[in-house]
Amino acid sequence: MVLPALPSSIPVLITGASSGIGAEFARQFAERGHDCTLVARREDRLTKLAEQLSGTYSIAASPLIADLSTPEGIESVTAHIATSSPWIVVNNAGFGTSGAFAHAHIERDLEEIRLNVTALHALTHAALVQNLPHRTGGIINVASLAGFQPIPYMATYAATKAFVLHFTEAVAQENAGSGVRILALCPGPVPTEFGTIAHAGPMFSQIPSIPVDQCVQMALRAFDRNRVICVPGNGPAILSALSHLAPRSVIRKTLGRVLKAGISRS
Ligand SMILES: NC(=O)c1ccc[n+]([C@@H]2O[C@H](COP(=O)([O-])OP(=O)(O)OC[C@H]3O[C@@H](n4cnc5c(N)ncnc54)[C@H](OP(=O)(O)O)[C@@H]3O)[C@@H](O)[C@H]2O)c1
Repeated sequence: MVLPALPSSIPVLITGASSGIGAEFARQFAERGHDCTLVARREDRLTKLAEQLSGTYSIAASPLIADLSTPEGIESVTAHIATSSPWIVVNNAGFGTSGAFAHAHIERDLEEIRLNVTALHALTHAALVQNLPHRTGGIINVASLAGFQPIPYMATYAATKAFVLHFTEAVAQENAGSGVRILALCPGPVPTEFGTIAHAGPMFSQIPSIPVDQCVQMALRAFDRNRVICVPGNGPAILSALSHLAPRSVIRKTLGRVLKAGISRS
């Protein structure tokens, strides 16, 4: 069922708004008339985007500088959420790592878990608590196609996104009928800075990518329909369905072969 878009009087807080999917969420929510709080570490980029958005649309946009892989960063953003209600919170900040886990830089993997999982978990709770009494508002958690199955050579990243997907689905079900919309966005490849940071070439080359504006348009359409999961694009949608149909052993062996070959070529 297509519901009306949430009123533009509800402000939006977007993590990871300094680039890629998060910056595009900010643009499209600003275009819909929402005030935006833009969260990330790179102040120059956030300030520039905030100026662009408030200069182009009749909205207020402000940067909130925070490193969400730290307890202090998470605390500063949850404290900001607690100052107002209701909210639309887009938990988008995240990064990936790749390569054999035995050779992982363990501190980098732990940072990935703190950002992709711990921060998202805390901010989802903060937003839910603010939204429920108003029976409105929403949460968009950016998971990934990678969250539908284990991925050898991207073991930690895929596991963080499995957490995001399962956690978001469960919380959405707990709050069905509450008026609060809760969506897990599960993109396949989208050309952003993500691929370079994650060294995700071997994975990305196997699946057609979709442009970032289309990815966010499809996410917002799903959000308007109060959907729980959105997998943007036909290729990723088919792959996510296959992940339920094929035996797990076949999936992990196939992905293991593909990624191992890709990594040894790169
Ligand atoms: N692109 C894809 O193919 C793809 C596919 C599936 C899922 N995703 C997911 O989509 C989300 C957005 O990724 P993207 O593709 O837009 O990548 P991106 O262009 O690299 O953007 C990542 C964003 O996260 C922010 N970030 C990174 N570390 C942070 C930290 N410690 N604290 C606060 N913010 C931090 C970055 O800002 P600063 O560096 O300024 O802090 C940046 O704004 C991620 O969760 C990713 O896993 C991406």
